[in-house]
This record gives sequence, C-alpha cells and structure tokens, in this order.
Amino acid sequence: MMVFALGPIMTRIPATTSNPATNPATRSSIVPRLQFEAAGGIVHQIEGIVASRSGPVAVVTGASSGIGAATVLALGRVGYRIVAGARRLDRVRRVVGESGVALPLDVTKLESIEAFADETAKRFGRVDVLVNNAGLARGLTPIGEAKDEDWIQMWEVDVLGLMRVTRACLPLLRKARHGHIVNLGSIAGFETYRGGAGYTASKHAVRAISRTLRLELNGEPIRVTEIQPGMVETEFSVVRFGGDRKAAKAVYQGVKPLVAADIADCIVFAVTRPPHVDIDEIVVRPVAQAATWLVARKP
Ligand SMILES: NC(=O)c1ccc[n+]([C@@H]2O[C@H](COP(=O)([O-])OP(=O)(O)OC[C@H]3O[C@@H](n4cnc5c(N)ncnc54)[C@H](OP(=O)(O)O)[C@@H]3O)[C@@H](O)[C@H]2O)c1
Repeated sequence: MMVFALGPIMTRIPATTSNPATNPATRSSIVPRLQFEAAGGIVHQIEGIVASRSGPVAVVTGASSGIGAATVLALGRVGYRIVAGARRLDRVRRVVGESGVALPLDVTKLESIEAFADETAKRFGRVDVLVNNAGLARGLTPIGEAKDEDWIQMWEVDVLGLMRVTRACLPLLRKARHGHIVNLGSIAGFETYRGGAGYTASKHAVRAISRTLRLELNGEPIRVTEIQPGMVETEFSVVRFGGDRKAAKAVYQGVKPLVAADIADCIVFAVTRPPHVDIDEIVVRPVAQAATWLVARKP
C-alpha cells in the first residue's frame, strides 16, 4: 500500500478494501475513470485510502458530469464523505455510488438549494469542503446577435447559483473545524474572446466573488480557492452548442485538451494542504493553449 500524506482526517486501510465510489461494479460509464488513470496524478498515489464514517464532508455541485463527477471520485478516494447534487439525479447517483449521498439540485432555484442544504445539515451537520462546480456556457455569438435567454441562464447558474449555494452552505462550513470553498472559475475569468461575453462576464464575476469571500471570511478558518481551467474536454462544449456534437468535437480538434481528472487533481491538492495554507488560485490549461483564443492545433 502506498502512503500519501493527507493530514489527520484521513483513514488508511488495507489496499484490498475498495472504495464504492470507484468500484467498477458501481461506477457509471459516464464517469471518466480511464481519464483518471491516464492522468496518473491521483489513483496510484492514494490507493487504499477510503472514507471513514466520521471523515470530512465535501459538497460537490454539478456532479452529474465532467469535472464535478471526477471531483466526487477524487475526493471519495482521499476519504471525503460526499454530498453531490445536480439536476440529473440518476447520473449523480451512479457517480457517487456508496461514497455519499446524491441529492437533486437545481442551482437556479432557491427552494432546491435550500432543500439541498437542509438535507446536508440533517445528514452530516457540517460541510468541510464546498466545491461550487455547477456551471455552463451557452452560445458563442457576438453581443450584437446573442440571445437574452443564453445570457440569463449563464448568469443564473454560474453567478447567482454559486452565490446562493455558498450562502446556504456557509452556516455548515462554519460548523466545520476548517472550512474550504472551492469555486470553479475559468481562464475566461481574466481573459476574453470574441463571442464569449456572456460566459466571460459570468466567470469574471466568479473571480470577483472568490476575492470578496476571502475578504469577508478573513479571521475565520475558511479557505477560498478558485480553480481556473483552460480547455477541458467534458460535456461543456456539447452544452454550449445546444447538443451539436460535431461543433463540440471541433473545439478539441488537433489538440490534447485537459481531462476532468486533471482538474479534480488540482482540487484534491488544494483541499489537502495544511489548514493554514490557502491556495488562492490555480490556473491550469493545456500546453497547447496560450490564451482562450490561441490554441496550437496539429493538422
Ligand atoms: N470544460 C471546460 O473547458 C471548462 C473550462 C473552465 C471552466 N469550466 C467550468 O467547470 C465547471 C464544470 O464544467 P464541466 O466542464 O464539467 O461541464 P459539464 O460536463 O457540462 O458539467 C456541468 C455540470 O453542471 C451542472 N449544472 C448545469 N446547470 C445546473 C443547474 N441549473 N443546477 C445544478 N447543476 C447544474 C450539470 O448537471 P445537470 O445538467 O445534471 O444539472 C453538470 O453536472 C463549470 O463551472 C465550467 O464553467 C469548464
């Protein structure tokens, strides 16, 4: 069994004991397990570590796909008890397996957020880590032609949703010995590109929220980390292009993008630092992507 320094909260057990979150019998085909192994950053290092019954609690929003699903697996592997939410509950259930609880969550609906937080409080009484991952882009259209409904949806999910989930979970984060908020920003939070105003504005806002939270929580044992990925191959582009898989595929043409597990790896790194260490921001992008709009592609 390999030893991995994770701090005092983790339980180490024989490597023969499997974690249901990553057990082939319970995992879903939508979970990018192979990507985990290909990424090589997590799996082999932490083999043999599973959640204890009193382990720390991590809430992950947008856990039905992509980065959220990979984060559920990665945090489950390092001993977190998971509360995972998204609208497609069946998928969340398959991702979480027995490593935690899958709950319905629509971050655009206040009552859904409140029910999610209430259920988390009832079951666990606290939250050690909140991963605000739920998010999307809609369209790639210049401001002159963009649709109101796309702007509204991005703002409601990426910005208002993130703030509302944070507000609902703050009392539970304050009940933990050390709380940690991890926000999924983007390089679109400090760069811009043509056709991207709705999304870049929402991710610039996430950056402002992360920085504001750090000021407001100063003096409390709650860390705030923003993860700012470049291009990651998930369902993100399929959603952006309204289900047009051809258009989505073209985004990754001739380039090796990041995979969801690469981002989960960064999140695990940030949350497993000693409690006095705050990783403010992690910017991570494919080597081939020098800017949102400048990607070196092979023919
Ligand atoms: N992929 C990239 O290139 C990239 C780059 C930088 C940043 N990011 C950010 O990373 C995060 C995750 O994106 P991803 O790449 O993993 O995309 P993805 O595969 O499309 O996953 C997005 C997740 O957000 C959830 N979601 C969307 N609307 C929601 C709502 N109203 N309520 C609750 N959950 C909702 C989806 O679940 P349901 O549809 O089941 O609700 C899904 O689980 C986003 O914040 C995104 O902006 C992605």
